[in-house]
Amino acid sequence: IFFQPILAQDFEPNYEEAQVPSYTLPDPLLFTNGEKVTGPKQWNNRRQEIFELFEKEVYGKSPEWDGELEAEVLFVNPDFMDGKATRKGIRLHLKRNGQDLPLDLLIFYPNTRQAIPAFLGLNFYGNHTLATDSEVAVPTAWIRNNEAMGSSDNKASETGRGKRIPNWPYEEIISRGYGLVSLYYGELDPDFDDGFQNGVHGLFPEESRNAASWGSVAGWAWGLSRVMDFLETESWVNPQKVAVLGHSRLGKAALWAGAMDKRFALVISNNSGCGGAALSRRQYGETVGRINQSFPHWFAENFNQYNEREMELPIDQHQLLALIAPRPVYVASGVEDRWADPKGEFLSCVAASPVYRLFGLEGMPVATQPAVNHPEMGHIGYHVRSGGHGLLEYDWMQYLDFADLHF
Ligand code: GCU
Repeated sequence: IFFQPILAQDFEPNYEEAQVPSYTLPDPLLFTNGEKVTGPKQWNNRRQEIFELFEKEVYGKSPEWDGELEAEVLFVNPDFMDGKATRKGIRLHLKRNGQDLPLDLLIFYPNTRQAIPAFLGLNFYGNHTLATDSEVAVPTAWIRNNEAMGSSDNKASETGRGKRIPNWPYEEIISRGYGLVSLYYGELDPDFDDGFQNGVHGLFPEESRNAASWGSVAGWAWGLSRVMDFLETESWVNPQKVAVLGHSRLGKAALWAGAMDKRFALVISNNSGCGGAALSRRQYGETVGRINQSFPHWFAENFNQYNEREMELPIDQHQLLALIAPRPVYVASGVEDRWADPKGEFLSCVAASPVYRLFGLEGMPVATQPAVNHPEMGHIGYHVRSGGHGLLEYDWMQYLDFADLHF
């Protein structure tokens, strides 16, 4: 039954390895017409083929940006961390069609005079969750309700202030010589099904939507590129060395951003799971049918064709990683985060590796999933850490090492 998502109450996730169906993954190095890719030159064409399949069947096609970008300085503090760093707030205005979508960037960088590498990532509960003082405002955009973060009636509050600093250890990031840029994802696209009226989709009111139009994951990813447009104008950052990173649904967005925009020199997926780094064909934990039921606005409508029919997908998620080649990509899992299928995320890294080898690079250095807390880093990096779903300091330590290795 096409376009029939599985109902949450009828869904029992499979957590038994023995119950994983047998499957064959589509070969990233084989054109749809059966021809083989034998070198990096042909890869460009095959890459385009894979990219268009992901656009059409999974994330939806994002528009070209033909609007204007304006940067308003909200504050600059060059004496942050006892003068070691600068913290600034920038309000980006995405202007198009008489509309103005404001995006607040929170930026930290060490006070070195050279242009430095930086991490760019969306946050879940607002920039104020990354700051202890009131200079960083509480967002006014729609927000998910979460008691610990102090959001209710879909409004953020002071209660969340500083609560996510452990997940964004900027002092450590700065001391390692990196900048950090973060923004609240709900300013790009509020995370509920509103028929694509608000957020970045609302900037394109003339667009007539179809089954391959962009969903929210693509909207968040597309927004990361607009931030990149701005970073290219900033003197403190080396735009050749910007790593894009995201956790969970925002990890899905980071991977798709890395696939769409080659300016992202390094891509990091933290616990991105289904529709991110995990192989759909394994149907382990969250499945395509389940995700489309819970979050009907995340993907292109076409993705529903594969509810309970993952084997019919013309692509699988290892090919999303392959789209990032030869740029480095890191995939991280939490061992207790079975919903995101840690093993499926690892196998995805292995199956993307032949594309890296085509460039004479090592993809994933090992063929069996490494032990807990034993990172492996080739041009593809992977770890499964102890614990569950979350972006933790341990994860950041590996990302910093991986960035040191490649930048
Ligand atoms: C849900 C969803 C996942 C997603 C996660 C998150 O668990 O099913 O696909 O990654 O939320 O974003 O935290």
